[in-house]
Amino acid sequence: MTGEAAAFLAMEDEHAAHNYHPLPVVVATAEGAWVTDVDGRRYIDCLAAYSAVNFGHGHPRLIAAAKKQLDRVTLTSRAFHNDQLGPFVTALAALAGKDMVLPMNTGAEAVESGIKVARAWGYRVKGVPENLAKIIVLDGNFHGRTTTIISFSNDPDARSDFGPFTPGFVSVPYGDAAAIEAAIDEAALTGTEVVAVLIEPIQGEAGIIVPPADYLPAVREITTRHNVLFIADEIQSGLGRTGATFQCDNVGVVPDLYLLGKALGGGIVPVSAVVGNRDILGVLKPGQHGSTFGGNPLAAAVGLAVVELLATGEMQERARVLGSRLRERLDGLIGNGVLAVRGAGLWAGVDIDPALATGRRVCELLMDRGVLAKDTHGSTIRFAPPIVITPEDLETVVDRLAEVLVQLRGGLHRSPTQNPFPR
Ligand SMILES: Cc1ncc(COP(=O)(O)O)c(C=O)c1O
Repeated sequence: MTGEAAAFLAMEDEHAAHNYHPLPVVVATAEGAWVTDVDGRRYIDCLAAYSAVNFGHGHPRLIAAAKKQLDRVTLTSRAFHNDQLGPFVTALAALAGKDMVLPMNTGAEAVESGIKVARAWGYRVKGVPENLAKIIVLDGNFHGRTTTIISFSNDPDARSDFGPFTPGFVSVPYGDAAAIEAAIDEAALTGTEVVAVLIEPIQGEAGIIVPPADYLPAVREITTRHNVLFIADEIQSGLGRTGATFQCDNVGVVPDLYLLGKALGGGIVPVSAVVGNRDILGVLKPGQHGSTFGGNPLAAAVGLAVVELLATGEMQERARVLGSRLRERLDGLIGNGVLAVRGAGLWAGVDIDPALATGRRVCELLMDRGVLAKDTHGSTIRFAPPIVITPEDLETVVDRLAEVLVQLRGGLHRSPTQNPFPR
């Protein structure tokens, strides 16, 4: 690392709150699936900003949409109309097969908004007595970092010293549909009433946990039968990543509300949304919810370009094809330092044998070999490169992982190349 890179690290260390533990790489520029650091070293980005960069860094059509809008108008607030919001919400509603869109900014805001909508729907439509609405969540969930959202997290790091917590949630095991029905019945016995189940179709932060194929259909059946909303948090799983527009599509399920974020902003601006039908989203009246930046013209212009990109189906198809090759290659490493591989589309969680190294250590060694990936929960590494990655670069990623595993198993004594992908 040069002095310049070290200086950037020192500035962050001194003046940025230490709520992240980044790999020591300082990115200066990026294009497609590649990022370049301040020293000119190039890396294949296998995190894609937690899937916010699904369509690659600097996608020409998305950048063009943003640049065009930058020169027109960027923010009006919702106190006035703008000429970008209407086309955006119309296109997004059509993409999701729903009536309406509630535009917000970050993923956590979409989750908070979905919770508020579900509660209001419970009181105003379902007839739940005031303050008795309950929402079922799943053990191992990750829906963001606000105070209400961490109130129903099981992760001690997310919760410790941040209480008191928001009531009104009950958590049940992920993958067990009967537990959801039992919680609905149990709530009724204690005088509360379940209004919604909030669920990640694949639990991303928990380690890319894919539930059994019949789980989400069973949850759909149970929620429909009990007049309970099915809220799918597709903030990470949605918008192409899993080889479909939504992971729910892959299992033949249509939720009542989609929560979207990350890739909706094309990696350019934060754009999130709650998408649903009028009988649910229509409960919100003026003054009851909002955000100064939600639905701003710049976000709407980029969001519309993202929806147009997805409407062709090309990204979904590419993620499906490249994803099956990635899976095939990663499965080949099982028994050679890898314990298990999970995932869907171009999204894989790889469990490294903890006897070999921590996930963090593997990510550091991958970084030395020009691949950026992120560990989660100790020994799992996620691979979620931009969908625009080339088949050759995808092969390189797995080759590099295989090399790291050989090195860790003692079979490779040469030190890693200093700059495997020079400019
Ligand atoms: C499933 C899911 N929901 C919500 C969020 C929160 O999104 P944001 O970080 O934009 O608030 C995330 C972020 O990782 C997520 O993976």
